[in-house]
Amino acid sequence: MEDILRLSKINKSFPGVKALTDVDLTIKKGEVHALVGENGAGKSTLMKIISGAYTKDSGEMWFDGKVVEQTTPKESEEMGISIIYQELNLIERISVAENVYIGRYPFKNGLLQWGEMYKNAQALFDEFDLNIDAKAIVRSLTMAQKQMVEIIKAVSINAKVIIMDEPTSSLSSKETESLFNIIRKLKANGVAVVFITHRLDEIFEICDRMTVLRDGHYVGESEIKDITKNEMITMMIGRELTQQFPERSSEIGEVVFEVKNISDGGDKVKDVSFGVHKGEVLGIYGLVGAGRSEAMRMIFGVDPKVSGQVFLDGKEIKIHSPRDAIKHRMGFITENRRDEGLFLRSSLSANVVMVALNKIMKNGLINYKKEYDATDGYIKKLRIMTPSNQQKAMYLSGGNQQKVVLAKWLFSDSDYIIFDEPTRGIDVGARREIYQLINELVADGKTIIVVSSDMEEILGISDRIIVMHEGTVAGEIKKEDFSQNLVTEYAVGERVDQA
Ligand SMILES: Nc1ncnc2c1ncn2[C@@H]1O[C@H](COP(=O)(O)OP(=O)(O)OP(=O)(O)O)[C@@H](O)[C@H]1O
Ligand SMILES: [Mg+2]
Repeated sequence: MEDILRLSKINKSFPGVKALTDVDLTIKKGEVHALVGENGAGKSTLMKIISGAYTKDSGEMWFDGKVVEQTTPKESEEMGISIIYQELNLIERISVAENVYIGRYPFKNGLLQWGEMYKNAQALFDEFDLNIDAKAIVRSLTMAQKQMVEIIKAVSINAKVIIMDEPTSSLSSKETESLFNIIRKLKANGVAVVFITHRLDEIFEICDRMTVLRDGHYVGESEIKDITKNEMITMMIGRELTQQFPERSSEIGEVVFEVKNISDGGDKVKDVSFGVHKGEVLGIYGLVGAGRSEAMRMIFGVDPKVSGQVFLDGKEIKIHSPRDAIKHRMGFITENRRDEGLFLRSSLSANVVMVALNKIMKNGLINYKKEYDATDGYIKKLRIMTPSNQQKAMYLSGGNQQKVVLAKWLFSDSDYIIFDEPTRGIDVGARREIYQLINELVADGKTIIVVSSDMEEILGISDRIIVMHEGTVAGEIKKEDFSQNLVTEYAVGERVDQA
């Protein structure tokens, strides 16, 4: 097959960071090419050089047989390269269709052709079986829907190469399947796709070839059919990974955290009740839209609830805001970490100590040594890739930002912690470290709730699972009954327990 895109000896530095060193990449026409590597390996940086968002320090690039000098994002789009950035790039207050055609609005006699724009956008969503209204305002969409809008925007450009930087990180398995159908159609039309993901199973399902980066260096490439998952992991992390889910030795005690009849008054969250024991990891599974995150947000006081009670140690507590929840030693790691979890302009260490300032204050003064020591501990433990604990959060790679939010809540010493998609965007090696930290927390007598769309993860780390479907708890599964089938039956509404 012919090459459509080739990069040779690409170098790129940021202050204090050599992000790429002599990196090569070859993409063939009509192939789906996986770009893999740990958090901070340089994947997004390389893609931004291709899309014209970043300038390379040195190296060469060919597209469709021709040498390409530095381009602007607009120029590379016109040339036939389209990109879905890891951090979504939509304008929230305008419609879906306007976002899809941004910078390319259809005009006639100087007038914007609204009707035509809506019609064309809707036709694209319909063609790919996506249930999204082209006239809807982007703000009203779920994360997964926003991701789908980005995908359609990229597809609508009629590119020869489409770069997808972690497109599935906020998609459920069903939506991921829709995306894969889109990718198959693109491939059949000769479009090449560069696909970045930390969910390795997806690579085996949809990709033809892969290139591995480690620490800003090219490690190797391979046909997917010639490689095993373990070999892939070893290439990525430079060592073998033993046992994805480490052993746990915690003692499960009494029910210490209980919610009763949480409702939003509408149909997103209806009468959700459950209890969690001391030292237990309760997994909450459900398809996207099942109301899991919504319920958690109400419990933690982020969103208002119409009814429902929260009990800690048998005593009802009133939670009107996250501040109330934090006061009662609750912690919440939201799924929307970039927007809700981080102060992007603040340093890494300032972010880590933010919710537990009392731990590092003495006589009204911050003890910076404590702040830095604690942060350095997490940098090591979670393998946060950063030049120092003073790096601004905005300059960290996507996965490393996720790790900082985790570190913040780990440092806060909360007793009841809700993790919403704890390993979203996190590489396989660091994922194991997070599971290990969760084990340490429960061994320490803490109570953990993990919301996850990742079936393997929910089965691997939970002591008990509840499954939500259409805003309610459809069923509860004990460890000895864990099975993928049972979880799925509850999640799709085929099975419901009597309340
Ligand atoms: N604008 C920037 N300023 C400073 N450093 C940056 C910037 N962008 C990226 N980096 C650094 O470059 C390195 C590579 O980051 P990059 O975002 O390319 O990683 P990645 O492979 O996409 O990781 P992830 O899987 O976490 O998304 C990291 O050390 C990151 O902190
Ligand atoms: Mg990235």
